[in-house]
Amino acid sequence: MPLVLLMTLAGALHAADSGAIDVERCVLATAHKLAAYDAAQADKTAYPNEAKGARWSTVAAKDWVSGFYPGSLWYVYEFARRRHWPDQEGWRQRADTWTTGLTAEQLTTTNHDLGFMLMDSFGQGFRLTGEPRYQSVVRQAAQSLAKRYRPEVGLIRSWGAIDDLKSYTVIIDNMMNLELLMWASSHGGRTQDGTAQDLRKIAINHADRAAREFFRPDHSTYHVVELDPRTGAVLRKHTAQGKADDSCWSRGQTWAIYGFAAMYEASGDRKYLEQSIQAAGFYLAHLPADHVPPSDFSSTLAGLEFKDSSAAAIACCAFFRISRLSDDPAIQTRFRQAAIDTLRSLTRAPYFSDSPDKASALLYQARNYSPDANNRLTNTSLIWGDYYLLEALLAYDADSR
Ligand code: GLY
Repeated sequence: MPLVLLMTLAGALHAADSGAIDVERCVLATAHKLAAYDAAQADKTAYPNEAKGARWSTVAAKDWVSGFYPGSLWYVYEFARRRHWPDQEGWRQRADTWTTGLTAEQLTTTNHDLGFMLMDSFGQGFRLTGEPRYQSVVRQAAQSLAKRYRPEVGLIRSWGAIDDLKSYTVIIDNMMNLELLMWASSHGGRTQDGTAQDLRKIAINHADRAAREFFRPDHSTYHVVELDPRTGAVLRKHTAQGKADDSCWSRGQTWAIYGFAAMYEASGDRKYLEQSIQAAGFYLAHLPADHVPPSDFSSTLAGLEFKDSSAAAIACCAFFRISRLSDDPAIQTRFRQAAIDTLRSLTRAPYFSDSPDKASALLYQARNYSPDANNRLTNTSLIWGDYYLLEALLAYDADSR
């Protein structure tokens, strides 16, 4: 074997042994897929959603996943700036174009997903450019989301119409929308007839009641809580995406870990950090050796096709956040290590793919728990998996500098 090839091979083996994460390679490979979609798609309001193979199925702006593609473009733009890539401006323009397609959603009151849709797009745009036009959309989105809050219940309604007095459904995922309210409250946002304090109070009330209603004694979470809209009494706890009503849907658990960590960052109230760490404790205690959970922790299905690597990516971002926010060196070390172990797994085969045969970089994601690997719910690509993978790569990159 030629000497140069031997040296290259030795170098590659050393990199594998040392477990190095090649952030630049992974961001570039993901960016390549994002740019290919933009180049091929003339309709800039057809947002990538899911894929079994090379082509994303798409959704309109009103779908809960619409913010993840523009959000991913903003993360690539941020990385391009950090690394002084020559085509930074192209990334900013792509991100702006796809963000702009979501403008009308700021007035939406028919779903609770405004945090996912508009913080990840307009919120990121404002964070990275400071342009006021992005900020005003986020403020309006918070006002719209606040209309789904009912004081009698003390939680933001997830599903159903805002004036439905027969049912009131809240899901654990809703924790992810509170950052929108907290951020807007501290950036001049208002409820329609109130004050900035109202937005903040709504987020705090929601987090406090979610902490009481969604957690079991072992710190695993229920997915769905049904309440009486008039009295706020709990009627039923169940699942819509997990295996069973009393099981733990893994992505729901990671929404809880991330959402409570984000509430700690926004409020400074330590009880939210404790809640996040307890939820993370359950998650970490039930993880398999490759740091990627099955789509439900009670699943008995073996095989990659029943995993949800998107849950692992969300958890990874949350672990970096916990590690950064905690002032306890033991917590910092534990969660930094958990984040790095997870990211190492997600950035290699079989989870990471730079192949053009796959729409996403992150493979083996699951929308829902399902025992059928061939249906659209499992063994698939989901746009939010790549979004949170990019977030984790940028957090690792910032942490390692
Ligand atoms: N928020 C919807 C989901 O996680 O599937």
